[in-house]
Amino acid sequence: MAKIKTKVLVIDDDPKVSWILSEGLASNFEFVSARDGIEGIQMVSTEKPDLILLDIKMPGMTGLEVLEKLNKLDTRPEVIMISGHGETSYVVDSMKHGAADFINKPFEVREVEIHINNVMERSRLKKEVTELKKELQSKNVYNSFIGDSEGMHKVKAIIEQVASSELSVLIRGESGTGKEIVARSLHELSNRKDQPFVKVNCAAIPRDLLESELFGYEKGAFTGAHKNKQGRFELANLGTIFLDEIGDMPLELQSKLLQVLEQQEFVRVGGINNIHVDVRIICATNKNLEQAINQQFFRDDLFYRLNEITIFLPPLRDRREDIPLLVNHFLDKYNNLYNKKFYQFSPEIINRLVSFEWPGNIRQLENMVKQVVVREDESIIVELIASAHSQGINVNFTQPQTVNNPQPVAVNSNPDDFSLKNRVGKTVAVEEKRLIAEVLNKTNWNRRKAAELLQISYRSLLYKIKDYDLNVTK
Ligand SMILES: Nc1ncnc2c1ncn2[C@@H]1O[C@H](COP(=O)(O)OP(=O)(O)OP(=O)(O)O)[C@@H](O)[C@H]1O
Ligand SMILES: [Mg+2]
Repeated sequence: MAKIKTKVLVIDDDPKVSWILSEGLASNFEFVSARDGIEGIQMVSTEKPDLILLDIKMPGMTGLEVLEKLNKLDTRPEVIMISGHGETSYVVDSMKHGAADFINKPFEVREVEIHINNVMERSRLKKEVTELKKELQSKNVYNSFIGDSEGMHKVKAIIEQVASSELSVLIRGESGTGKEIVARSLHELSNRKDQPFVKVNCAAIPRDLLESELFGYEKGAFTGAHKNKQGRFELANLGTIFLDEIGDMPLELQSKLLQVLEQQEFVRVGGINNIHVDVRIICATNKNLEQAINQQFFRDDLFYRLNEITIFLPPLRDRREDIPLLVNHFLDKYNNLYNKKFYQFSPEIINRLVSFEWPGNIRQLENMVKQVVVREDESIIVELIASAHSQGINVNFTQPQTVNNPQPVAVNSNPDDFSLKNRVGKTVAVEEKRLIAEVLNKTNWNRRKAAELLQISYRSLLYKIKDYDLNVTK
């Protein structure tokens, strides 16, 4: 196979330089030459050289001026300066402006070859590191987005379909279901991946500060505004802004946000000039926005604009088959992080983990696995689950849910036996929930009677009703 030669553009008013190099180094390099800066700059785009040898002293544009112009290009080849006697200060300036190396005139042809090879090798390594970094970054989030359930396959398919579009995406799902991971994945897989990803948690920033945080302010806009400050929209320019907890955005700001969405323009707090930005918007919420619209807390026009695509993240209890995968993923993560060697749960504990309702979803699972790894003791899972039960954590639904549609439980054939122990036995919590709902409906939501039939304590039933978010069906 023919060797691909390094193409070198020589920009020098002295034609001898290019001629000598072509004669001496033709077997490894291909030389093209320009007699001045203007021609040289043009040839960068027409010839696409791998490297430029640039004379410092030329009539017309100096080498340094040419270098400055080249620096304005999106990418440029490496530049080696050729300096004559007494041009040390120019050499220093050129190096400050990004020249990779310099060669003194008069030079030995072999010496030039060594310089070119060194610079090319350094440039190759630099590119490799940049590529690797990019690859690592792009693998970081989406690659650790675990899930093999049908629900997660759907989510992944939408992410891949819409990531590189410019559509606004609204990510919905209960707390801890992975909304932020989805937002970051969308950015990583988009064409904006090398540009900023700026996150704003609308619920965490006090109302009064949110506007200046998002849109920036001008000096003197309010007490303490001593200088102009860019807002997050400006910082996200060309990239993605992730507005987390969008349901908490005050109404006054919603109209300003709508304007940015429609015109890609806004005015800083206390400012008069329009600022133009090119930003892709991704939002997330665990709130019921439809209800907020009905109650006039959220603008419907903004909702439709933000919601060009919806990604709904199913709660963990609806994709229990993902639990063992997630457990392994977090075991790996925390064993590595804390330098531990706790790699396996017993089948009973896995069973408990799979059966639990996970009101705090993946974040809650992750925390539990982390504690087990740190303490190297899986038995604490039993305590942790019991304590989660006793705290009666509410499941925070994104969509209004009607959970009470009890299906007959096909575990026990005796329909009069409502003993929780007998009927549910080792079956998973889904069935436990169905059974409790069935008994509650049968007793017309007489909880004491239901507890008796289920053969569990009244208190325990109350916790389960709360945990499973059971409510009276009409
Ligand atoms: N599919 C997943 N695979 C691996 N880790 C996940 C997955 N989903 C969520 N996680 C992890 O769970 C934790 C919670 O996820 P994330 O912060 O994205 O949730 P969220 O939906 O934004 O929650 P909240 O509404 O409370 O802000 C994070 O540590 C995240 O890394
Ligand atoms: Mg979040």
